[in-house]
Amino acid sequence: MLVSAKEMLTKAKAGHYAVGQFNINNLEWAKAILLTAEEMKSPVILGVSEGAGKYMCGYSTIVGMVKGMIENLGITVPVAIHLDHGSYEGAYKCIEAGFSSVMFDGSHYPIEENIAKTKELVEVCRAKGLSLEAEVGSIGGEEDGVIGGGEVADPNECKMIADLGVTMLAAGIGNIHGKYPANWTGLNFEVLAKISEMVGDMPLVLHGGTGIPEDMIKKAISLGVSKINVNTECQLAFAAATRKYIEEGKDLAGKGFDPRKLLAPGVEAIKATVREKINLFGSANKA
Ligand code: 13P
Repeated sequence: MLVSAKEMLTKAKAGHYAVGQFNINNLEWAKAILLTAEEMKSPVILGVSEGAGKYMCGYSTIVGMVKGMIENLGITVPVAIHLDHGSYEGAYKCIEAGFSSVMFDGSHYPIEENIAKTKELVEVCRAKGLSLEAEVGSIGGEEDGVIGGGEVADPNECKMIADLGVTMLAAGIGNIHGKYPANWTGLNFEVLAKISEMVGDMPLVLHGGTGIPEDMIKKAISLGVSKINVNTECQLAFAAATRKYIEEGKDLAGKGFDPRKLLAPGVEAIKATVREKINLFGSANKA
């Protein structure tokens, strides 16, 4: 069922668990994530970065593919197709293409401009019944060639953006995309608690889910995080499983070169990663 992320996240916030956003790159990714969410009876958010959108031949291709999968794989759990770190133009393109949810990441603009653009998109999304994620304090690390500084958000700015009526809010709390460096000091729970207190019922989003220790994930959920984004971890799992298949020479045996066989271990590895995250986030059986 293709839906906006609003209801699933409102329930997650009230129920003290988080819904996973798993970024997709191709058909195998989308299929693996949808089948695992269905198996675990968990709501799920498919994240699409602008780079991945381009790679998959445009947003309407993705909407068509995911809608087809929902129908043909018999997916009954709530599924949102969500633009990840969207630009202002990208957000409009995804709304046009039929995404059920978008993120407008205005964190690199001066706060006044972030507010003005987010406010405009709140109205557009509300009119169409779509969910909207906004961001304050950019997330560090590298994603699709965009390097963020890894800021810690100002709770007052978070309140200003939350009050515009967005569905969910991503706030930088020392989290970064990709692998965490050895000298990472961890999530800033003091700031997260302050933001949580100021924004009330607003579901908070934790980006950079890859590599955050389990106890920190659980603590973040207890402090109001209701959506956690995971991307790199599925990529690493897929790559390792594919490497193993090739290194074992399986592509050279029989019809092992058939892409349906060659990509199967990677798909299973994505499924295992998603299963583990759904268990950790607590969203199993919440569909
Ligand atoms: P990771 O790649 O670190 O899991 O982060 C994903 C993310 O935050 C997507 O927005």
